[in-house]
Amino acid sequence: MTNKSNNINEFINLVNLKVRLSDFISQFINLSERGNSYVGKCPFHNENTPSFNVNNEKGLFYCFGCKAGGNIITFTKKYKNFTFNEAVNYISEYTGVKLSNNTFLNKDKHNQLNQTEIKILKACNDFFRECYVKNKKASDYLKKRISEEVINTFQVGFCPEHHILENFLKNNNFFEDDYQKLDLFIKNKKGEIFGRFSNRITFPIFDYGEKIVGFGGRTINNSKIKYINSQESQFFKKSNILFGLKQNLDFIRAKKEIFLVEGYLDVIKLHEFQIKNSVSSLGTTLSENQLKKLWYYTDIPFVCFDGDQAGVNAAKNVAIKSLSFLIPGKSLKFIILPNNLDPDQFLSERGKEDFLELKNDSLNLSELIWSLILDEISELTPEFIATIDQKIEYYVSKISNNIVAKEYSRFLKNKKDKFLWKNNSFSKSKTKILNQPKVIENLNEKILITILITEKKIFMKYFEEISNLKLRDNNLEKKKNEIFQLFSENNFDTKNDLWFENLFSENELNEIKSLKSTHIEKIEEKDKEIFFHNIINNIRLPNLIKERELVREELLSNNDNSPRNLILRFQNLNNEINKIQNKKIE
Ligand code: CTP
Ligand code: MN
Repeated sequence: MTNKSNNINEFINLVNLKVRLSDFISQFINLSERGNSYVGKCPFHNENTPSFNVNNEKGLFYCFGCKAGGNIITFTKKYKNFTFNEAVNYISEYTGVKLSNNTFLNKDKHNQLNQTEIKILKACNDFFRECYVKNKKASDYLKKRISEEVINTFQVGFCPEHHILENFLKNNNFFEDDYQKLDLFIKNKKGEIFGRFSNRITFPIFDYGEKIVGFGGRTINNSKIKYINSQESQFFKKSNILFGLKQNLDFIRAKKEIFLVEGYLDVIKLHEFQIKNSVSSLGTTLSENQLKKLWYYTDIPFVCFDGDQAGVNAAKNVAIKSLSFLIPGKSLKFIILPNNLDPDQFLSERGKEDFLELKNDSLNLSELIWSLILDEISELTPEFIATIDQKIEYYVSKISNNIVAKEYSRFLKNKKDKFLWKNNSFSKSKTKILNQPKVIENLNEKILITILITEKKIFMKYFEEISNLKLRDNNLEKKKNEIFQLFSENNFDTKNDLWFENLFSENELNEIKSLKSTHIEKIEEKDKEIFFHNIINNIRLPNLIKERELVREELLSNNDNSPRNLILRFQNLNNEINKIQNKKIE
């Protein structure tokens, strides 16, 4: 046996003597005694009947459902998603047992916080909370935004001037050597000291191991620098932190669902609205480590960044970045918040239900990638269609997992085919519309009115049809309605050649007479009805074309695989329009 495993075995033996494994695990799940062992619902898979067993004598656990099993270190690693070192440290803290010759843990020891430093950060945080309660300005500011209860849950505080913090530390027997690493103070070139978080609201930031490793500080004076965070260091690594995970962990485990948001206050506000399953990556990037942590708790986290351009861009970057790490069964969904809102503002304006509704409209990662490809296509010429293939290849090549890569390739190519098919089948009629000489609507409508008051037979025969027609020209529409009004009142002179002539001004009557002579008189009696129908169709045409455009837009933006109804409607409209267009009046 190597030295290393010797040490570990000794460590585990000591731990087992000191605490019962069932007591340790009971911190996290409910166990009940059954015979020689303890039984509960397995935290590593979904189950209704308990098949998770803990044997204190052996110091082992085993799940008959999912076959997970091992010792206290295995459990801690798996449950907390810790590295081996983190698990050992965690158990050390809980049990007081130290790894005797922990040389293999030493390699990054000077990079990790020692016990004193951990204590100092915790003490500072407690002190900040006291200061917060006493500082009226800070509490006035924050009370407007969140409730007392949530302020306590997230241990929000206020950092006083640097000398006050220094005094506090001294009075607690902590000295510069102890805390110089912790980035609480800044020294400028002249040797003057400033507090890094002075006069700011503080948010303690916990690592996955649930100890404080740094702070975020928000201005309450409208300082140009809204947030100041602990500087990146060996122990404060933004890429290894998810703000809110500690406070929301239970809910996240239970729901198996996570919202990834941008800001501290987004997480806190969501929590206040009883949506206790969000975390923030402290800004807008997402590391491999963070992504894998999210995937540990849920298969498809929701990315819900701010609705402004910066947030949308950040979401796109997260999407692209995630490709390298995709594996079967893991993905992301994207929620786009409306009107530049962030989750905090959205909740204030619209409330919890509306926020949760957003999940239904969220975009799959694959759809988002397709939209990225499409965004960059400016023309549907062969050269640009070729760039679609290029882009597909580019994104697919980022996916390291072969199985997922294959599916993405298939999905995106399919998207491309459908997209081209839609565009081809519509573009033909689109060109036609562009070349279409403009229909003179007024002419048709005026001719219709002329027919109404000069062609008694047609008027009587097509009475219904005409009355259902809506004219675009307001004045003509009014005249038409007046005609029908008089007609229904029997208030007209059948002997007069120009029915309803007193509805019109002299100018109008002249125009009518002239239209009659140019367009109607020359038509043989038997063709008059056909002519009339053409006029009706011409009047309907602009509306039909408008409707067809609406359906076309709907089709192009439709993500369904088979929008059959829409296609049918489009084709019907298209047929009708073509029919009408082929018989235009001269
Ligand atoms: N952030 C940061 N440093 C900055 C700005 C932002 O670290 N100078 C991080 C913070 O974690 C912040 C997040 O990015 O919470 C989102 O920034 P922003 O949307 O500007 O802040 P909000 O959390 O929305 O804060 P508030 O609602 O108070 O404006
Ligand atoms: Mn914000």
